[in-house]
Amino acid sequence: MDIKACIFDLDGVIVDTAKYHFIAWREIARDLGFEFTEEHNEKLKGVSRMRSLEILLEIGGIILDDPAKEILADRKNKNYLKYVLQMTPAEILPGSKEFLLELKKSGIKIALGSASKNAMTILDRLKITHLFDVIVDGTKVFKAKPDPEIFLKGAEELNVSPANCIVFEDAEAGIEAAIAAGMKCVGIGNSEVLWRANWIIRGFQNFSITKLNDLVKS
Ligand code: BG6
Ligand code: MG
Repeated sequence: MDIKACIFDLDGVIVDTAKYHFIAWREIARDLGFEFTEEHNEKLKGVSRMRSLEILLEIGGIILDDPAKEILADRKNKNYLKYVLQMTPAEILPGSKEFLLELKKSGIKIALGSASKNAMTILDRLKITHLFDVIVDGTKVFKAKPDPEIFLKGAEELNVSPANCIVFEDAEAGIEAAIAAGMKCVGIGNSEVLWRANWIIRGFQNFSITKLNDLVKS
């Protein structure tokens, strides 16, 4: 495979925002009168904000109309942003910035493919916006992962064929989206969740283009 572009998910791949999503959702659940656990939070990884709320409401056995859901999703986001706005570049996950810099130097194109509508704010806080040739976030797509739209749009904007793209993802929905886009996918994290990925790594610490090429050849 000739790797021409790498497309990165953001939450859980470049930065660990899951802990902030968790605190913000837990507060909503508490207001609604039930406990939301870290195990429940796993189900929200890679899933859009509104779908996350719907899953949370299913857990609590609560039915709400759309305007009430909008209010809660908005409240959760305001809550979440309190943490996001405090983030610093020190929160970039180990090795990811180094890997992005190596890709940039080597001429391999870089895109962001994130479901988050807060992606620009987060990249800005981390001071890495300039490293991406193309940014596709939750404000630019109609269909959430596992639909391939995010990744296909990234490849199209980079002018690279999906067959020459590698996706880096930490969530099941994201891996399904990459496969549906006709791209190869490196899962970041736990093999029990990510078994559908073509390859799995623990994280970017000590990762490099040479190691990526070794994986692709394996
Ligand atoms: C994904 C996260 O990247 O973005 C999900 O994994 C989150 O947990 C989704 O719900 C949407 O994020 P936001 O920032 O638009 O609420
Ligand atoms: Mg993710």
